[in-house]
Amino acid sequence: MTAFELTRLLPADHFAKALREDARRGLTAPAKWLPPKWFYDKRGSELFEDITKLPEYYPTRAERAILTERATEIAALTGARTLVELGSGSSEKTRLLLDALHGLGTLETYVPVDVSESALREAGRQLALDYPKLTVHGVVSDFTATLGLPRAVRGPKLVAFLGGTLGNLTPTERAAFLAALRAELAPGDSLLLGTDLVKDPAVLVAAYDDAAGVTAEFNKNLLNVLDRELDAGFDPEAFEHVALWDAEQEWIEMRLRSLREQQVAVPALELTVAFAEGEELRTEISAKFRREKVAAELAEADFELHEWWTDAEGRFGLSLAQPV
Ligand code: SAH
Ligand code: AVI
Repeated sequence: MTAFELTRLLPADHFAKALREDARRGLTAPAKWLPPKWFYDKRGSELFEDITKLPEYYPTRAERAILTERATEIAALTGARTLVELGSGSSEKTRLLLDALHGLGTLETYVPVDVSESALREAGRQLALDYPKLTVHGVVSDFTATLGLPRAVRGPKLVAFLGGTLGNLTPTERAAFLAALRAELAPGDSLLLGTDLVKDPAVLVAAYDDAAGVTAEFNKNLLNVLDRELDAGFDPEAFEHVALWDAEQEWIEMRLRSLREQQVAVPALELTVAFAEGEELRTEISAKFRREKVAAELAEADFELHEWWTDAEGRFGLSLAQPV
């Protein structure tokens, strides 16, 4: 039977406090915004899984295609004893890495790290059934606040950051995140990084504004999180989902646009937030990359890009990097 252990890395009140701080800062800013990590309550994590199956949302399939082709090579190149995964979600694609490392005979421990405790528990339950010899040590944490990889894990470590989630951080956050990650790694450890690539804006916008409206529901679920956690009075029906391509920044932005002038009470913050008709709340950026940009951001954090793979259609990039 798999050992499944769950550690909560941050103090018990961390998430409640952090949500209050983020909501106060973002909802009182001249251009309203919220960080995307708050999408992922139980419902949000389920909706993300639904998104990954949509015909328009190609990144999951593209990254899975690369992993299917390269997992054995990745295992051989890294020889990892410990696989750490940041923002692991359902850990579905990770199974390709687990299988390959298991085949090589090196893997002892898998450490999925996620803000979503529900996603970690569900993934842990499934992995326990399917990988009876693997030690699974789930960590509930916010990787932008602290990485805190378990100290006791045996190297070489492979840290996987898949799905393109790096692109949900701003350039400043990405630089800080990569530097913090680099500080956790020793010679012989590796980083496996998935990044979505710049492409036809019509393809990109469709991936974030699907015909079935699942991404719209995912976006609006953020308002449900605020209503539940902060006792706020957001009516998701009073906002519309917006996805647009920022050609200068080369990122997709998701926003919620107020359909009317409205005042929303947020009692937990003793705040009332005014929205003009058409005013937008930015809920996510999803940066798209080119190989040179990935290599440059890695180099800036003292990583060297060793391998760069894409799917056959060149939609998604997977990098294998090592500490310099
Ligand atoms: N890696 C999976 C899931 C991607 S969805 C895949 O490729 O399909 C993004 C995941 O990152 C979600 O599970 C979400 O809960 C998690 N996440 C987002 N922001 C986070 C943060 N700041 N700290 C930890 N996990 C985060
Ligand atoms: C998790 N992350 C990489 C997804 C993305 O594509 O930026 C989140 C997402 N947002 C809308 N659809 C999916």
